[in-house]
This record gives sequence, C-alpha cells and structure tokens, in this order.
Amino acid sequence: MESKVKTIGVLTSGGDAPGMNAAVRAVVRSALRKGIRVLGIRRGYNGLMNCDMMEMDERSVSNIINQGGTALYTARCPEFKGEEGIARGVATCKEAGIEGLVVIGGDGSFRGARDLSLAGIPCIGIPGTIDNDIVCTDYTLGYDTALNTAMEAIDKLRDTCQSHDRCSVVEVMGHHCGDIALNIGIACGATAVLLPEKSYDVDADIITRIENTRKTGKKHFIIIVSELMMDVHALAKEIEAKTGIETRATVLGHILRGGAPSVRDRVTATKMGHHAVELLSQGIGNRVVVEENSKITDYDILEGLKMPRKFDEETYQILREVNI
Ligand code: ADP
Ligand code: F6P
Repeated sequence: MESKVKTIGVLTSGGDAPGMNAAVRAVVRSALRKGIRVLGIRRGYNGLMNCDMMEMDERSVSNIINQGGTALYTARCPEFKGEEGIARGVATCKEAGIEGLVVIGGDGSFRGARDLSLAGIPCIGIPGTIDNDIVCTDYTLGYDTALNTAMEAIDKLRDTCQSHDRCSVVEVMGHHCGDIALNIGIACGATAVLLPEKSYDVDADIITRIENTRKTGKKHFIIIVSELMMDVHALAKEIEAKTGIETRATVLGHILRGGAPSVRDRVTATKMGHHAVELLSQGIGNRVVVEENSKITDYDILEGLKMPRKFDEETYQILREVNI
C-alpha cells in the first residue's frame, strides 16, 4: 500500500537507553523501504525547536545496532513544554516537510508527542528508558541491558563482599519504579530489597532478615535499594551499627544507562521501530508502540499514559521467600 506520508522525522528524548539506536535504525530502514524520506532530529525536542536535523539514508544507521547511547543524541528540553514550544515544533515540521514523527523516549517525551499530535503532526512514541516505568507496555527498551549491567556489577561486589564477610548496600536506578531493584534483587540473591512501591522498616525488612540469614551460616549480604528512597551511605552505617557487620555502599547510577544493548533490546527495538513506521505510513498518529503479552501493538498515547501502574507482588513474595 502506498504511504500516506512522504517525509518523517525521528528523535530520541529524555534519558538515553541501550536499544535506542536499534530503534532509530529500524525506523530509518523501514521507512526508506516504503519510499519515505527520513530526517534524524538531534538532541530530542531541542533539535525540533532549532531545526537541527540531518538526512538519513540506509548507511547513516550502519554500525549502531550494537551501540549503547543514542547516535541522534538526546536532551531534556523544558522550553518545549507549553504552547510556544509546541508551536515552534509544528513550524519546524512544516518547514522541513515532516508529516509524521517517531519519538523514542519515556513518558515525559510522550506528553510532548501527544501535544504535537493534537497540534496536527502525527507522532508515534516508542518506549525507551531503562526504568521499565511506562505503564501501558510490558517492556521498555534498555531495561534488559540495564539489568544485565547491574547483575555483572553486583556479582563483582559479591566477590569482595564474600571475601571480607561484609554487607554490600547497592543503589540502582529506576526513578519511581522498583522493577530494576526487584528483578536484580532476585538475580543477585539479595537478602533485602527496598522498593518505592513498598513501605519499609529498616529493622523488620533489613536487620531482622540479615540476622535470620546469619543464623543459618551466611556471612555476606547484599541489600538492594531503588534510587531516590534514602541515603545509602547512611543506611550502610546503620546496618553496621546494628549488626556489627562491616558494610559498604555503592551507587551504580548512570553505569546502568550505558553499554551494548542485549539481544532482547535489539530485537524489541527493531520490531517497535518497524511498527511505528507502519502506523505513520497509514496516516495514523498519536499512538504509543507497546509490547503486550510478547506481541507488538499500540495504544492511544493519552490512554496509555493514564493506565494504572501494576506492581508485581508475586515476584516480590518469591524474592522474600527464596532469598533467605
Ligand atoms: P522521559 O521522556 O525520559 O520521561 P522527561 O520527563 O525529562 O524524560 O521528558 C523529556 C522531554 O519531553 C522534556 O524535556 C520535554 O521537552 C518533553 N516533555 C516532558 N513533559 C512534557 C509535557 N508535559 N508536555 C510537553 N512536553 C513534555
Ligand atoms: O529515566 C531514566 C533515568 O536514568 C532514571 O533512572 C534516573 O532517575 C534519571 O533518568 C536520571 O536522569 P539524569 O539523566 O538527569 O541524570
């Protein structure tokens, strides 16, 4: 079927995530195959506001499927929020002949995509964030790579922790979503995990769990804390004071955002990028591409953003029962 659009733009926005490059590559090549021209917009909505873009061809996305970060660069662009910013974005699209836009980013970026769609530029969102915090999709690009990066780092911490009979408190990213902390807690055998979705009590949820495990002969402990919950260095001191076990804290931070994307991220990004172009070529906008029950589909952006957040209570209980 002939495409309803002749030129589209693609940008990456918000925090970078491994797999964003694979998504850009899929968007570019799927579009070119349909005879659609593609402009790569640099630094998210900044590039859209300042007309900073480049012509993309098949080879302009060579050798990026295996790279973390984003070759289109990314940014946070507060000026884009609000009527003036949207109007400038629309003006750039009209000037450059952009009839549809693929926005790869998190829920903030999707709010911008919704506003642009309502202003007449059909946009498709692709979920790209290590946090896995976009409620309408089972999966966000970068999450699997971030989990594997965290696992490798924590396995290394375990070596030194075990050698010294110590406790290691590790802070992982996730913004206000505990998915990284919960699943890395399982993968790394953490004695305790603190998540934003669960209220906690240091004595009941950490000290008692360490003491109970200690009675069975365990001498080293890993405690995972999701970011923005507390000062992990202060927590390490409290654990040391209450248990007498030497304790160190490590903040993994932005390490989790880098590195070569995993197979899961490359494949999902490619499918999502292809799906986004399919929608735009049919003249469809204001949708977010999602993975649902292992299938790629899409939702209205606003409806998707409004969906209630589900917490994986079952996995949390398994962690509490097995990591003893
Ligand atoms: P993420 O997309 O990873 O959630 P942010 O929340 O920082 O990251 O959003 C990225 C960018 O999306 C912002 O810098 C801004 O340009 C745009 N944006 C965020 N929220 C809105 C909004 N409510 N309306 C329009 N644009 C927005
Ligand atoms: O949303 C991705 C994320 O990496 C969060 O986990 C973290 O809270 C935030 O971005 C950090 O953002 P910045 O790039 O501003 O340091």
